[in-house]
Amino acid sequence: MSDAPLPKLASIPPEVASARDYEALAQERVASGSWAYLAGGAGDERTSARNRAAFDDLTLCTRLLRDMKGAHTRLELFGQNLDHPLLLAPVANQLLAHPDGELATATAAAAMGATMVVSTQANFALEEIAATGVNWWFQLYIQPDRDFTAALVRRAEAAGCKALVVTADAPVSGMRHREQRAGFVMPPGVEAVNLRGMRSLRQEQAAPGAPPLLGSALLAAAPGWDDLRWLKSLTGLPVLLKGVMNADDASLALGAGMDGLIVSNHGGRILDGQPATIEMLPEIAQAVAGRAPLLFDGGISRGADAFKALALGADAVLAGRAWLSGLAAAGAPGVAHVLHLLRAELELTMALTGCRTLAEIEPALLRR
Ligand code: LAC
Repeated sequence: MSDAPLPKLASIPPEVASARDYEALAQERVASGSWAYLAGGAGDERTSARNRAAFDDLTLCTRLLRDMKGAHTRLELFGQNLDHPLLLAPVANQLLAHPDGELATATAAAAMGATMVVSTQANFALEEIAATGVNWWFQLYIQPDRDFTAALVRRAEAAGCKALVVTADAPVSGMRHREQRAGFVMPPGVEAVNLRGMRSLRQEQAAPGAPPLLGSALLAAAPGWDDLRWLKSLTGLPVLLKGVMNADDASLALGAGMDGLIVSNHGGRILDGQPATIEMLPEIAQAVAGRAPLLFDGGISRGADAFKALALGADAVLAGRAWLSGLAAAGAPGVAHVLHLLRAELELTMALTGCRTLAEIEPALLRR
């Protein structure tokens, strides 16, 4: 049996009914190592599975006969008017999924009126991605080389990015077991092109008997709360902190001047054993208490999942793997179709629970 990937789908098969239907179609259409990277989670993948499964513990309460005239999904975030609260989470190395990578994703997002959060580790230049016309935010890893980081922020600003998303939950990471077992190595030509020319610190292999990680140069160079203040002093863009899984960290982030927060465990890709993001959302929302926009990611693969996050205090949500499978299976049309499915399911859920606007999506509409 050959395991060469099948060609990408030239059109969307009519039997694709949900975002999850793309997973099998995607897996057949990327190299097995790439699939391990794209779909995998940290360790034994309990957290990435739990992100999804925890949504099933929440059920929906319908409401009857409500007046739905003028219903809509619009919202304002950081002065931007968005048609709906579904954003594309940052995903690195999209060339692994499709030869058009981030350009295909951006084209689809633009067509669907969705904001795309572009990864620091994108495989296309920020300017090329911006040229698709997409509304985009830039996901930033504050690099050990702070001068390079500052220059990268300038570049993103010049290319029209509308907000910065600082990912703080992955100062170091282990090799994902699934990638290791699949023998994954980043193929030649799949490069974080926007980081070209940067002095970088690699996660070094420690000598036998030495501490594998603690005390390493990489960990010592990891950003701290002061670096968020530094970043704020550098830019007029709204800055969000992504990776918040603790109510005290949420308060510290607001104290450091963050304009918004993203509850995220990095799709379960960094520390296996974390709770599901939807489990942590209520206490973090309580700590934030409306002081800043609160966004959410982790396991969203249905419109009803988005509804549940909105009910528990999120202002908007980001999906990652859901549209990534669409990209891997069918390129831009696949991504656009997934975004359409998520939005249609969100609207259906709103209609049947009697919510005319996002603000009416309340905890009372859920049961545990
Ligand atoms: C990941 C890093 C690149 O999740 O954010 O793969």
